[in-house]
Amino acid sequence: MKFPELRLRRLRHSPGLRALVRETRLDPADLIYPLFVRYGKKIREPIDSMPGLFRYSVDTLVRECARAHRLGVGAVLLFGIPARKDSAGKSGYEPKGVIPQAVRILKREMPDLVVITDVCLCEYTDHGHCGVIRGIRRKGRSIPGESSGTVDNDATLPLLAKMALAHAAAGADMVAPSDMMDGRVGFIRRTLDGAGWSRVPILSYAAKYASSFYGPFRDAAGSAPRFGDRAGYQMDPPNVREAIREIALDIAEGADMVMVKPALAYLDVIRTARHRWDIPIAAYNVSGEYSLVKAAAARGWVDERRMALEMLTAMKRAGAGPILTYWAPQVSEWLRE
Ligand code: PBG
Repeated sequence: MKFPELRLRRLRHSPGLRALVRETRLDPADLIYPLFVRYGKKIREPIDSMPGLFRYSVDTLVRECARAHRLGVGAVLLFGIPARKDSAGKSGYEPKGVIPQAVRILKREMPDLVVITDVCLCEYTDHGHCGVIRGIRRKGRSIPGESSGTVDNDATLPLLAKMALAHAAAGADMVAPSDMMDGRVGFIRRTLDGAGWSRVPILSYAAKYASSFYGPFRDAAGSAPRFGDRAGYQMDPPNVREAIREIALDIAEGADMVMVKPALAYLDVIRTARHRWDIPIAAYNVSGEYSLVKAAAARGWVDERRMALEMLTAMKRAGAGPILTYWAPQVSEWLRE
């Protein structure tokens, strides 16, 4: 008697069976929606490099966040685009800056919406680096040999802590330092605790790589470095053991959640971190991952919906808890259909 070879395919036979044995699912509550906030009123300015996304003034931001909230998106993450930039990124830690203003209004209008703020100087500095630059630059020219290595680690820490404090005092539910200075998680934790903000958790961009996938974001936030690059503080893409050291240090310094960024090209890092620690591991589906799909879909080369859902599902499968994605409201709509 001859037996059929059919084995694994039996459970793929129908949509119902496939749904029954599905191992990984996306949930809008896990998604964090990154948004760009700028000065002004009634502004909803399209971002060329990120089709479908906008820079919002605070009033229009409230409407967009309300839409995401209604769709069940878990949280929003705010990036500020200031009116003025200077060498020390001062507008980033003013208590009345664009982010504290936005947080105050959002928390007043929607107390249940989880509001996370990005803590980094690069959107606020005129040179575009994530910290202050050591020494004086002559006549706007870069000094020979000057690179991102001249970003002064310890001089940057108090400024980041001031920024985190301004965000916490405005009512932020969580602060997310993305600068990659050493020791910033501990510094921010101590500063928040010292000022009575112990309940505010820190989501650390712990394993953040010096990646080409941030291109569209830098256009959106006007934060591309004017000279050099970020390789002196962000991680070298070939390394994974170093990511473990970064994450371990951040947890020891008091990070409540850690992030791997970018996500798609670093799924191994997410997986390794997931096996090693029990705290939430977030994945950042970054601007380049978004815009690649948008650009190809606009030419009819790929199916945006299927591709976005496949990417995000892969991040979950690798072990991500929360996922930061520009598709957050869109995915929530897709998941409802
Ligand atoms: C700021 C910051 C960046 C991103 C998040 N926070 C840019 C960078 O490091 O140059 C990138 C996000 C994205 O590409 O979607 N340090």
